[in-house]
Amino acid sequence: MKILVCGGAGYIGSHLVRELSTQQGYEIIILDNLSKGHIKSIPKGIKFEKADIRDKTALERIFSKHKPDAVMHFCASISVGESVADPLGYYENNVAGTIYLLQVMKKYNVKYFIFSSTAAIFGNPKEVPIPDNARPEPINPYGDTKFVVEKILAWSENAYGLKYICLRYFNACGAHESGDIGEDHDPETHLIPLILQVALGQRESVSIFGDDYETKDGTCVRDYIHVTDLATAHIRALAYLIKENKSQSFNLGSGEGYTVKEVINAARNVTGHPIPDKVEDRRIGDPAILIAGSTRAEQILGWKRKYNTIERYGLQPYSSTFSWFLIGHWDQRGQ
Ligand code: UFG
Repeated sequence: MKILVCGGAGYIGSHLVRELSTQQGYEIIILDNLSKGHIKSIPKGIKFEKADIRDKTALERIFSKHKPDAVMHFCASISVGESVADPLGYYENNVAGTIYLLQVMKKYNVKYFIFSSTAAIFGNPKEVPIPDNARPEPINPYGDTKFVVEKILAWSENAYGLKYICLRYFNACGAHESGDIGEDHDPETHLIPLILQVALGQRESVSIFGDDYETKDGTCVRDYIHVTDLATAHIRALAYLIKENKSQSFNLGSGEGYTVKEVINAARNVTGHPIPDKVEDRRIGDPAILIAGSTRAEQILGWKRKYNTIERYGLQPYSSTFSWFLIGHWDQRGQ
């Protein structure tokens, strides 16, 4: 099968490409505009098209050239704070871009779609862990763009017979075991890479956004899931979609939550660095607690996470020059 991986040079997309390229029976084509993705993360021998999903002419050219059988869609703007400041940009990229992609899929009769959704669609959840069938009520534009696409997919199935799977990621973290791809955003806004930048001497301290939440130590709780585990879930989801021909949504998390302070402490233990922190105001749009109930992915897809302690794996860092050092250090301590 030919799989078009949109956003395949980005953080989660590049890890999916690594895993998928080890499986029999798939030919991968990466589409990426390289606004956030990295050309060096594209493995040798994988076809690559530099294009933006908002460019319908480019999409048509790529579909007519490669004739994909399925699309995996990782391209999106992903920062909650940025989405509050620039909602129009977020709806344009995440919603309008996806509509163009779906229109071209329809034109070229491509039926299977795997969509990168997010825990942010749940807003402030009423029940924690959040069940797979919880009602989405996003509280920021980013989460809403993903929820809008989920609704578009449901109506597109109804109208055109599209078959799709929505994978709602909780907090993706970690890096590939090889150390040559990992989380590398610019500017970086995510907690774990920021903490590791302090340990690497690239930043003086890490900010804690609010310590007055109703959680055990007052800081926000998140469910950190290793990026390679997310990648394997995609491969299972694709196989399920093709075999069962059934659209479905799945939460992808670990089912465990860590506070911001716990993550910082884990990094202190692993790196041996004091990692100074400073408490700042709450960040707008942050829910207090997000923890997945991922039972559906386990039961239906047979997915099981391999990386299951934050100390050993959740903090595995990536930072071009220094990754080898910290990963080596990490493995010694983990044994
Ligand atoms: N945080 C800090 N200091 C920082 C950065 C983050 O205290 O410098 C806190 C945040 O307030 C939050 C937690 O650390 O409580 C995690 O924040 P991230 O920015 O790392 O991640 P988010 O939870 O905001 O969002 C991530 C993805 C989203 C996804 C969400 C799902 O970026 O795409 O996880 O849980 F929707």
